[in-house]
Amino acid sequence: RVVVVANRLPVRVQRGDNGELLYSISPGGMVSALLGVRGMRMIWVGWAEIDDTTAAEREQIRRTLWRREIRPRFSREMQPRRRLCEDSSACEPVSLPKSGARLHYAGFCNDVLWPLFHYVTDLRSGFHAQWEAYQAVNGHFAAAVARVARPNDLVWVHDYHLMLLPGLLRARQPRLRIGWFLHTPFPSLEVFRTLPMRKEILSGLLAADLLGFHIYDYSRHFLHACTQLMGSELSLESRGIAWDMPLPAAGGGGGGGGTMRHSVRVDAFPIGIDPDRFRRALDAAEVKGRVLELQRQYAGVSVLLGVDRVDYIKGFSTPNGRAGIPHKLLAMETLLETHPQYVGRVVLLQIAVPTRTDVPEYQKLRAAAHELVGRINGRFGSPGYAPVQYLDKSVDFAELAALYHTSAALSINRLGMNLVAYEYVACQQAAKGVLVLSEFAGAAQALEG
Ligand code: UDP
Ligand code: G6P
Repeated sequence: RVVVVANRLPVRVQRGDNGELLYSISPGGMVSALLGVRGMRMIWVGWAEIDDTTAAEREQIRRTLWRREIRPRFSREMQPRRRLCEDSSACEPVSLPKSGARLHYAGFCNDVLWPLFHYVTDLRSGFHAQWEAYQAVNGHFAAAVARVARPNDLVWVHDYHLMLLPGLLRARQPRLRIGWFLHTPFPSLEVFRTLPMRKEILSGLLAADLLGFHIYDYSRHFLHACTQLMGSELSLESRGIAWDMPLPAAGGGGGGGGTMRHSVRVDAFPIGIDPDRFRRALDAAEVKGRVLELQRQYAGVSVLLGVDRVDYIKGFSTPNGRAGIPHKLLAMETLLETHPQYVGRVVLLQIAVPTRTDVPEYQKLRAAAHELVGRINGRFGSPGYAPVQYLDKSVDFAELAALYHTSAALSINRLGMNLVAYEYVACQQAAKGVLVLSEFAGAAQALEG
């Protein structure tokens, strides 16, 4: 059995307008990537996300998640081959105290680590409280894993939200087999070293048996950080690192129990998608019908597609602030300005998935994008023609496959791996649309030319 531990469960629980509990697939590439994993029995441990629940609701959520299949609203041929959270792969929700969860997720994870790992280095005041919450939340996760993990399980920890967890798990169960995978870039030493708690984070990670990164550059950055920041007790091996790992004192907890030489394998494992799922989707009646509708709707107009969470890393950071989708909008404005013959003949259709809406940077970004959409449509639009069509929401898998298939081009200008690039290519068997992919996206190392 594999115990997958991630900040997010594959199923998201939110409260509807009438107070009811709503279940949906979680957004983002980490969950998408794991939908393609096959041949393992998985238990997921992740944050329950809603916090204002009664004890009875918490029990209901737990039982529902243990039973729940991810069965999106589409036909059999489009379903992920692997269903998460069914009997053989269940979810264990971690309930976190409200303020601690906020300081951890919106604070240390998404206002400190996420920007830093994407080369945005303006550490805020107040990060000490966030760091304390980060440690506490990692501790809650360690306790939750201890509730479900059996001695022979593999524990597979995901992402920057849980970098202390391998160390905490190792202290509880020295023989546990622990892997950790990062779904973001790992920055170069010059950037990573600006994090005051850099040593604690590296020590937490180095307690794992295997550390995985998207691409070779990120694993090399990590190794460099370890050799420069962890002191002489650490040595490089052919496939990773050996170091003197502190042992907990007898009775558990903290250090004080001496050290043990521990080897960690460090490697690159570029994640991908299940391309057959997209190919099968294009054969499904529901998607074919939608493709025809889109072709009729956009007859004579080329659709340039954008599919992004509204994140400032989906675009480049500028010296005077963080950017994101606004860059893409400005590029569209420039296109229409410099090539007036395209006015009326080209549309930018941007799926702008709301994300981390509690973090002020993300709120500013959303407002900036809305302002630009208004400006561009005001300048170049006419009755019946809006050059930018901007959707403040996510779309379901069938709609996404149909959009990938019908659009003339998709542009990815971001840092980090990016699954959308692969998904778009998987849907171009017949149409041959153009993928415009930044050299800074992790996917660019796999998609050459
Ligand atoms: N996605 C989706 N519906 C949408 C937009 C995106 O299901 O409306 C999915 C998309 O198919 C992809 C994932 O969300 O699998 C985004 O992953 P990616 O690696 O591109 O970016 P991330 O959001 O993780 O930064
Ligand atoms: C990226 C991260 C994931 C995260 C996803 C969505 O892909 O690597 O860990 O789940 O973004 O972000 P969110 O903050 O909504 O979980």
